[in-house]
Amino acid sequence: MSNKIRWGVIGSGGIARRRTIPEGIAKANNATLSTVFDKDPKANAEVANQFGATPAASLRELLTESIDAVYVATPAHVHYDHVKACAEAGKPVLCEKPLGMTVAQAQEMIAMCGRSGIQLGCAFMMRFVAQHREALQLIQQGRLGQPVYARAQLSCWYPPIEKAWRQDPATGGGGSLMDMGGHCIDLLEMFFGNVAKVSCFIGNTIHGYRSEDSAVATLFFENGALATVDTFFCIPDAGSKNVLELYGSQGSILAQGTIGQGPAGRMIAFLEGDDRAYDAQQARAADQGVVIDPEPVNTYQAEIEDFSRAILEDRQPLIGSELGLRSQKVLTACYESARSGKAVEVV
Ligand SMILES: NC(=O)c1ccc[n+]([C@@H]2O[C@H](COP(=O)([O-])OP(=O)(O)OC[C@H]3O[C@@H](n4cnc5c(N)ncnc54)[C@H](O)[C@@H]3O)[C@@H](O)[C@H]2O)c1
Repeated sequence: MSNKIRWGVIGSGGIARRRTIPEGIAKANNATLSTVFDKDPKANAEVANQFGATPAASLRELLTESIDAVYVATPAHVHYDHVKACAEAGKPVLCEKPLGMTVAQAQEMIAMCGRSGIQLGCAFMMRFVAQHREALQLIQQGRLGQPVYARAQLSCWYPPIEKAWRQDPATGGGGSLMDMGGHCIDLLEMFFGNVAKVSCFIGNTIHGYRSEDSAVATLFFENGALATVDTFFCIPDAGSKNVLELYGSQGSILAQGTIGQGPAGRMIAFLEGDDRAYDAQQARAADQGVVIDPEPVNTYQAEIEDFSRAILEDRQPLIGSELGLRSQKVLTACYESARSGKAVEVV
């Protein structure tokens, strides 16, 4: 294997074309785009032409000797089949979230890849946001004190569209909670550790499609902290500031706009105590908070570079399949809570 991982893409026409190919695979220092496959041959040919890749006419044609790894960017309900095909072909696979439609599917996907001895990653790329890495470091250093409460918000305007897979739980697994809430829950588990119990409401406040357009989940962490995740398909993009708030016994870390696809947003820490540990990137703001303003990281490039490096170094990726399974377990508990009206333990 050369020092550049040759990537194949399944589902080339959506986020793959918009972000992960141009910003991730094309820019990564250890990756190159080889082959793309999409069930829409016209879109696939366009993507192949746009990025100088080979268009495959089938999965079988994609999963050949000419690729070392696969990025799966298809709708949620076909992730299982696509990861299975990769496992059978012995190709390491970075799967978009959610990892399967159910906990059982996620577990089987992990087992299949384990048996084939290949890496399986779940594309929670928001873990790579530079401000999130800095906040995590502060928390790990104990600067926030004991975790107390957090809020993660991700909302957008998503009107009814005929045959949109996210608007039907049979193809999306759920609505705003499954699609965007998964990112929020994953980030909060990164900051505060495992969620033990959840209480959740979902509904359709504005849009009449079958998936929920509204969800609020309350999370109870194993360490005693609390959090809320609010995620809506019926709040205009400009109206949602995609807030991230982390509170502890020694202060808070507050952000707007860091949860999202691009390197953006602003984060300020209000922490008690000695500030000698802050580095030069963190300037004092007028309101006495400390602006957390590290060099931006392109999250798509970071996830592709790490996964490629994991293959080259024969190790697990930083954002591995166990995180996809965790996410699926917490999301499943949330939907069960919304259905039953009771708090539900994450098992
Ligand atoms: N991390 C992120 O920033 C991010 C952002 C958006 C979407 N996503 C995830 O990416 C995945 C795709 O979402 P999207 O917004 O790109 O969806 P999309 O509908 O825009 O694109 C999906 C593509 O897959 C193709 N496709 C559908 N079924 C297929 C099949 N059976 N075989 C081959 N190709 C098939 C479609 O033709 C389409 O081109 C989802 O899992 C979603 O959650 C992640």
